[in-house]
Amino acid sequence: MAENKIKQKILRGRKLLKASQWGRSLETDQKLGKPAPQVQKDYPEKAQLVDLVPSGEMSIEGDLLSVLQNRRSRRSFSEESFSREEFSFLIWAVQGLNSSREYFRTSPSAGARHPFETYVIINKVEGIEQGLYRYLPLEHKLLPLESNKDLTDEFAGACLDQEFTRQSAVDFIWTALPYRTEWRYSILSHKVIAIDAGHVCQNLYLASEAIGGGTCAIGAYSQEKMDNLLVVDGEDEFAVYAAVTGKVK
Ligand SMILES: Cc1cc2nc3c(=O)[nH]c(=O)nc-3n(C[C@H](O)[C@H](O)[C@H](O)COP(=O)(O)O)c2cc1C
Repeated sequence: MAENKIKQKILRGRKLLKASQWGRSLETDQKLGKPAPQVQKDYPEKAQLVDLVPSGEMSIEGDLLSVLQNRRSRRSFSEESFSREEFSFLIWAVQGLNSSREYFRTSPSAGARHPFETYVIINKVEGIEQGLYRYLPLEHKLLPLESNKDLTDEFAGACLDQEFTRQSAVDFIWTALPYRTEWRYSILSHKVIAIDAGHVCQNLYLASEAIGGGTCAIGAYSQEKMDNLLVVDGEDEFAVYAAVTGKVK
């Protein structure tokens, strides 16, 4: 690509990071009285959901000072599994409810829109079969999507063959459903969706560090392969971020 074309693309990209449109009056679907989008995707009524440990029953001891002193991107994991309680803590820390209201969660989100769905590929969690699941924050349960399946190769391939991803106990993939935010913020949405994603993954970093585990964020992935792995349409829902976690050696 010619140098000035790249420069133009870079300048267009930078605009996404700016807040220049805020403060202007915008016609949004919310103002037009359109119904609010669902906060969580539907699932089959008869699905056999996987129970997780409720946050009120977790006994997690890590303290914030030492977590922050030690936080690192971890790319080397042990063979050890997460217990069901540890995994429940991690997934609750990223998107779980911490109030009876569905829009108050462990991570903040612009306008409390929570535009993400959290998918997990479980490799090593005691009592939970390997496979692909979607987290249901409202129920604090997992919806099985592909049970009893080793997805290590598919996930590593979607992560552009970053080899360390093969060692992880659990892979997290966040999709965005941009309309959840666009309904309220229209063209202002995309900057804040990207910021929201950072909060979600940082919670995972801190929570995993607190339980003797670790996380590495994954921003370098194949959009097509990741969306295909999750069976999402790539338009109204698509992968925006991922992370690997495991117990640290
Ligand atoms: C948005 C984002 C995307 C990242 N993507 C990758 C990635 O694809 N592969 C990788 O090995 N590390 C990735 N990282 C981890 C960074 O390389 C790491 O945070 C950085 O080197 C600083 O190290 P630290 O996290 O240990 O402080 C990513 C981090 C962030 C915040």
